[in-house]
Amino acid sequence: MCGIVGYVGPREATEVLIEGLRRLEYRGYDSAGVAVLNGDGMRTRKAVGRLSALEDELKRDALHGGLGIGHTRWATHGVPSVANCHPHTSFDGKVSLIHNGIIENHRELRRELMDQGIEFRSETDTEVVAHLVAKTYDGDLVRTFQKVIRRLRGAYALAVCHTDEPDKIIATRVGSPLVIGIGDGENFIASDVPAILKYTRKVVFLNEHQLAVVTRDGVKIFDAALNPVEFTICETNLSLDAAEKEGYEHFMLKEIHEQPRALAETIRGRVNGDNVDLTELNLDAAVLKGVRRIAILACGTSLYSGMVGKYLFERFTHLPTETWSASEFRYADPVIDDGMLVIAVSQSGETADTLEALRIVKEGGARTIAVCNVMGSSIPRMCDATLYTRAGPEIGVASTKAYTTQLAGFVLLSVGIGRLLGVTDAEDERRLVTGLKQLPDQVQALLDEDIVAVKRCAKRYKNVFNFMYIGRHFNYPTAMEGALKLKEISYIHAEGYAGGEMKHGPLALVEGTFPTIAIAPQGRTREKLISNVQEIKARKGVVVMVSTQGDEEARELADYLIEIPPCEEELSPILAVVPLQLLAYYTALQLGRDVDKPRNLAKSVTVE
Ligand code: G6P
Repeated sequence: MCGIVGYVGPREATEVLIEGLRRLEYRGYDSAGVAVLNGDGMRTRKAVGRLSALEDELKRDALHGGLGIGHTRWATHGVPSVANCHPHTSFDGKVSLIHNGIIENHRELRRELMDQGIEFRSETDTEVVAHLVAKTYDGDLVRTFQKVIRRLRGAYALAVCHTDEPDKIIATRVGSPLVIGIGDGENFIASDVPAILKYTRKVVFLNEHQLAVVTRDGVKIFDAALNPVEFTICETNLSLDAAEKEGYEHFMLKEIHEQPRALAETIRGRVNGDNVDLTELNLDAAVLKGVRRIAILACGTSLYSGMVGKYLFERFTHLPTETWSASEFRYADPVIDDGMLVIAVSQSGETADTLEALRIVKEGGARTIAVCNVMGSSIPRMCDATLYTRAGPEIGVASTKAYTTQLAGFVLLSVGIGRLLGVTDAEDERRLVTGLKQLPDQVQALLDEDIVAVKRCAKRYKNVFNFMYIGRHFNYPTAMEGALKLKEISYIHAEGYAGGEMKHGPLALVEGTFPTIAIAPQGRTREKLISNVQEIKARKGVVVMVSTQGDEEARELADYLIEIPPCEEELSPILAVVPLQLLAYYTALQLGRDVDKPRNLAKSVTVE
């Protein structure tokens, strides 16, 4: 993620940049910076934290000038810090550059530049590009930039300016979005339309590998060989609000649809051939061999991913594993010692209960690993190692993409640690790595299907007062998470239960209109859950089944059938939860609820 913006024209550039960055904060908000060019050269301001911190910085020490670039960051390489914040300046102070994406070959470029005596000030992948532009500069920024981008691998939207050519911003993109705004005597660039909507509705969507030269008086676009390209100016009719959501009605729906990409990002670079590759975590096999048991600590949705994590860790590491609600752990009397490995799971990395539980286990000498979505947040800072999920900023209060990427993270961690311990079977590793690689396409296929049964169900049952969700083993937590989603955003009471426990009480609730969502994909417990469904049907309950494509028995039993693609049973929670997210979403929509900001709840709970 990350958002970029640029301006050239008669206004104070910082005003336009700050307005643009505010509109792009949904793309990342751990730090922000701007650089402005005027007759005196180039000056930069940066601040860690929300955009308001940068605004305060600019109030203290204003920048004046009509050309500038700005960036709001969602850290991928290096923690949120002033040094890692964009814009990055070249060694000679002449080049300023912003970037959204990942430069995959940054390590080799960094080595090459260091060999030439260049000192790096940040840990980012971006800084290499600023230095490369300065090194290559031959008096023609367009030609120089073309040469530099030929050397880059990865995904990027980049914008650059140079003190020797203070009238222009040059921008390009591969894999990351970039739009150009056409004004009257002023022009703009941005990651996304809302950043510039206040000033213009005329936009040009830059194509991959094209290079745009943006000055006050005009915009020129070139192809990768620097041939001029004709371009079409479109008039956008987006409202500011809709544009930030990329056309989706709510952030939650957008985030549900981002899951294929988020999963692909989370897996990227962490599987290698048939193996899981956790090199980035620097795990010490000798230390791990001293681990006698594992405790997973988390809250809310992260707790349910931790419940799946328990099953995975027990299967692949053979170590006893327990999952704790962090708020319970704090006030229990847990036995902590240095044979304990604690895994703290948190989307935000700031949840107060999880942080406090972590503090307690650290005092007790336990080893710690974080599974977290926000780089540099408090929980990863406290842990010995972190597996970052790469879901991108999650705005909707009801967690969706953070959950499925945590599940993928647990598969990687459990199999990877199991192998370091010499326990995970090579065949298991191969089958899970193969399955993980297929997941983004499978989730995409599920989303493309537009799951008609989900919408019908939401319409039919929106007025019931209670829902039951049942699952077994890997999908017992899916039942809990499905029920939580419905509660959170539709305010309908829902319970997640282990299928086998129905006969010990909840079966008494079942009668004619009582709906149960049964999650029964193929796997070890499918048959048992089918028996539980039969018990419900015998009492005239209504059953919505989530099962694997081609399961004829499920088709016969179900009042509503939702099919997921065949997959390894350890990965089925990732696929099975997607229709449940959508069911909660469409039910809440039918009821006219505030989907992204449900009553009484908050995205990040930093109080006890
Ligand atoms: C809040 C959010 C949930 C989230 C939980 C834990 O309750 O509304 O969506 O699952 O906090 O948050 P964390 O950031 O630690 O995963």
